[in-house]
Amino acid sequence: METVHHTRRRFIATLIGLPLALAGLWRFLTPKTVERQTLLQVPLADIPQNGALVFRQERIAVMRKDEGYTAVSLICTHLGCTVTVTPDGMVCPCHGSRFDQTGAVLQGPAERPLKKLQAELSGSHLLVRG
Ligand code: FES
Repeated sequence: METVHHTRRRFIATLIGLPLALAGLWRFLTPKTVERQTLLQVPLADIPQNGALVFRQERIAVMRKDEGYTAVSLICTHLGCTVTVTPDGMVCPCHGSRFDQTGAVLQGPAERPLKKLQAELSGSHLLVRG
């Protein structure tokens, strides 16, 4: 009699546990889709050809090159100061890190490039998403 009781318990536990285990496995195996927040909506006419438009308060630079538009965060990857955009690239005023116009590190102490932001054309505007 006790064996039947344990078998029934195990069966019920399996009925409850198996779907939970499969749901956990499904969440682990499927990629997360994260909706990116729109940080800026910039009129294309405001972005200079082969230049940059800086949004100091948002700490974002939007660049326009022949091949298209890019946006980078101006938060230095060393310790978080705001990077300054110059005609030659970007310079951090705190400890002197230098970045090229794509945000790649040219000179430390920063070791990681500036964060690239998603730049998407939408009619006559550029949407910058983080
Ligand atoms: S915070 Fe930019 S180089 Fe240190």
